[in-house]
Amino acid sequence: DDKNVIDLALFGALGDLAMRKLFPALYQLDREGLMPQATRIMGLARQSIDAASFREQVAATLKERIKPSEQDEKAIERFLARLDYLALDFTEQSGYAGLRDWRANARHPMVVYLSVGARIYGDICRHLHASGSLDDETRVVVEKPIGYDLESSHEINDAIGAVFPESRIYRIDHYLGKETVQNLIAMRFANPLFGNQWNQNHISYVEITVAEKVGIEGRWGYFDDAGQLRDMVQNHLLQLLCLIAMDPPSNLDADAIRDEKVKVLKALKPFTGEALGRDVVRGQYIAGTSDGKSVPGYLDEEGANTQSQTETFVAMKTEVSNWRWAGVPFYLRTGKRMPEKLSQIVIHFRQQPHYIFDPDQRGIASNKLIIRLQPEEGIALQVLTKDSGLDKGMRLRPGPLHLDFNSAFPKSRIPDAYERLLLEVMKGQQYLFVRRDEVEHAWRWCDQLIEGWKARETPPRRYPAGSWGPVASIAMITQDGRSWYEDY
Ligand code: BG6
Repeated sequence: DDKNVIDLALFGALGDLAMRKLFPALYQLDREGLMPQATRIMGLARQSIDAASFREQVAATLKERIKPSEQDEKAIERFLARLDYLALDFTEQSGYAGLRDWRANARHPMVVYLSVGARIYGDICRHLHASGSLDDETRVVVEKPIGYDLESSHEINDAIGAVFPESRIYRIDHYLGKETVQNLIAMRFANPLFGNQWNQNHISYVEITVAEKVGIEGRWGYFDDAGQLRDMVQNHLLQLLCLIAMDPPSNLDADAIRDEKVKVLKALKPFTGEALGRDVVRGQYIAGTSDGKSVPGYLDEEGANTQSQTETFVAMKTEVSNWRWAGVPFYLRTGKRMPEKLSQIVIHFRQQPHYIFDPDQRGIASNKLIIRLQPEEGIALQVLTKDSGLDKGMRLRPGPLHLDFNSAFPKSRIPDAYERLLLEVMKGQQYLFVRRDEVEHAWRWCDQLIEGWKARETPPRRYPAGSWGPVASIAMITQDGRSWYEDY
């Protein structure tokens, strides 16, 4: 379909993200017949290699990353034929003429994808503009992190905004491209069963866990400046929280959805005074084990500065101060070097107001909705049923009503987040991308938390690699008479 044709100019085309995620995702779109024939892709990077060796590198990454059953020779050939390469020093305007020439007589919009550090977003945008490479249809895609705090994010957003209007800026948060995350929207707003119960009258608390098994993986320098709050909470966890907590948008338009998300961010309760010590736990991993092997602590990773107090784990209890959610805690936790890769959201429903069963079972867990993003995407609803067996009387037993996407819909492949996001960029649809004010409100909230930490000067708590984080993060929730949902 001709209307989704674009010229993609990919800055940072030899980088890690491009090789690991972007080219495999673009290939999958092509293989699935979602990339119109006229689509062209220009790789841009500093290295002076020619187009043939660029194609070889992309071919190698496809070979490595794409399942053998999905490596279709014809599709690979067709995909590689779309690729071209331009060596470019991104900070020197002279080279941009090559890009402008590539676009001479082009009939389709250009998408500029900046898979490079945010420090040079501004330079690139300026040079693109000054070299005459842009027109009124050019879109720009940028990766996180947009800055380091509110102030630096302002600068970066201003620099991009000086060249592109908001309606053509696509800020990526790849969690928004995950299938289950979009299912949150479908679940909440297509099912009256959930839609009508989605508030403080029926929900007692919400948990969001994004646990990673990996450690720092050779990115110590970057990570140590950021820490887990900036790297994961400011974007991914807050986006998940927004999709859970937002009011129903009046339609599925990008701004209708994003307006509702912004309201949630504005209503997030700040951490002040005692709450800073009580409701937030920072952690840093020490040596431990992962998959049965010993692994070093954060301060012994390659390139580490042994004094660092950066957190690799954070757990917190927050609240959305509005009519729908008053009094409902949102417990968030995320960390590196956890026992497994697990991302899930658990909605805990309140108990029945009147209880008629076995008095011994009075405290039995109530309904839970478990939305799992990783490792396997799925949704489970925990319900109480009668325990089977003649001798059990009316004893209750919790059990899942389970929807595992892979087994329920075995024919449909679950696409990678980047496939979905790139497809939306090709279509020119922004609803899965983050608007400027979202980024800024999220920073504002994180900044006040970081400032509070600085003022208190408390070092992060240690936790062994391969554990579920500092003991204090468990105490934080058990002291409320609750616990992190454990099904692993
Ligand atoms: C990135 C973070 O945004 O998300 C990484 O910078 C993190 O530190 C990654 O590992 C996690 O993404 P996913 O899709 O593997 O959960």
